[in-house]
Amino acid sequence: MRTQVAIIGAGPAGLLLSHLLAADGVESVVLETRSREYVAARIRAGLLESSTVDILAACGLDGRLREQGLEHRGIYLQWPEERHHLDFVDLVGRSVWVYGQTEVTRDLVAARDAVGQQFVYEISDTALHDLDSDRPYLTYVDVDGREQRLDADAIAGCDGSFGPSRKAIPSGVGQTWERAYPFAWFGILADVAPSTDELIYAWHPDGFALHSMRSESVSRLYLQVPPDTDPATWSDDQIWEALARRLGHGQNGWQLHPGPITDRSVLPMRSYVYEPMRYGRLFLAGDAAHIVPPTGAKGLNLAVADVALLAPALAAMINKGDHAAADSYSERALRRVWRCTHFSWWMTTMLHTHGDDFDAQLQKSQLQWVSSSAAGSAGLAENYAGLPISY
Ligand code: FAD
Ligand code: DHB
Repeated sequence: MRTQVAIIGAGPAGLLLSHLLAADGVESVVLETRSREYVAARIRAGLLESSTVDILAACGLDGRLREQGLEHRGIYLQWPEERHHLDFVDLVGRSVWVYGQTEVTRDLVAARDAVGQQFVYEISDTALHDLDSDRPYLTYVDVDGREQRLDADAIAGCDGSFGPSRKAIPSGVGQTWERAYPFAWFGILADVAPSTDELIYAWHPDGFALHSMRSESVSRLYLQVPPDTDPATWSDDQIWEALARRLGHGQNGWQLHPGPITDRSVLPMRSYVYEPMRYGRLFLAGDAAHIVPPTGAKGLNLAVADVALLAPALAAMINKGDHAAADSYSERALRRVWRCTHFSWWMTTMLHTHGDDFDAQLQKSQLQWVSSSAAGSAGLAENYAGLPISY
């Protein structure tokens, strides 16, 4: 088989890249190890920044988002006895949208299916070859156990943090930066109306908690836990009690309403950046090149920003033989990646406790300043609501 761009991974980065490339007249094939059903059901991110919404709107993918998504003006920051609203629209003129990654994926798959995009699901043994030549290719084993080869002008490594793309770059070419955090997030999905109109990020001596949502009838909540936590060892009552305590149930009459828990998982937290995001004819995008801790909801948004830069760069290279944008892709993408890496680290550091009393005093001082100073609030708002793609 031959195509112009071979895309490894049918996550948000790979799917949106295939869509943006097609709009520029570039053909692609999307390869994926998992099944179509597995990819569609995976519960992950839930918050879209304004630039992500702008990109989805620009390519006509915002229909269901506008109908079923929830537009939020800002967030609440809270600590014991205090809750403050940060209004991003007032502060920086931009809002954010609650719309699950599952929904974004569904919209993208539907749009690609409608125009006959070629997907190859349930492949194994994906291997990348001749990346430093003009004729790179992939080999893999298809669902029926047959060995296949896909030749392309370029390969897009959109295969997440554990995929083969980054590992195919010879050692010594790139550099990695990493930070592990001594805690994890215990996330639940519950069939209950959210107890808040906008997200609550809560600092508490017992650990961080976040009240998010997926719709007017589904809540998504997170608790800071030790990284080795087995989610099966917590009873539903224990989860709701911890959430109620940390989120300030009873504070100024506010109440957290519990409901049936339909999904639970523990997510490890780390910061990771690999650079450069290109090697020869291989271009990395999304989690394949960088991971952020979830505080601040940047993972999905960064994947979208990467491919918004990558698609026109590949189109110029393939359609016109103009390599300038492809040559500067890594540098331009990394500028934004590092900004979001810093923001995610900063939000994580401000909100998660780790038993150090001095740090706890610094965190409360920082929360007070961010919540009460116009400059402090605007800095958080600008980063959270999302910097322009071209930042
Ligand atoms: P992915 O979505 O990981 O997609 C990569 C795809 O490549 C996958 O479908 C994978 O199956 C496929 N693949 C892997 N190997 C191969 C191979 N060899 N051949 C072919 N295909 C392959 N972000 C937030 O902002 N908020 C959150 O609450 C949040 N929760 C998360 C929870 C979990 C459990 C995880 C893992 C991530 C979470 N994230 C969250 C991060 C966010 O989901 C990611 O940043 C986002 O999915 C990145 O998109 P991507 O397309 O780059 O990678
Ligand atoms: C969600 C996840 C986040 O990491 C975050 O900061 C906000 C919302 C979510 O899954 O809804």
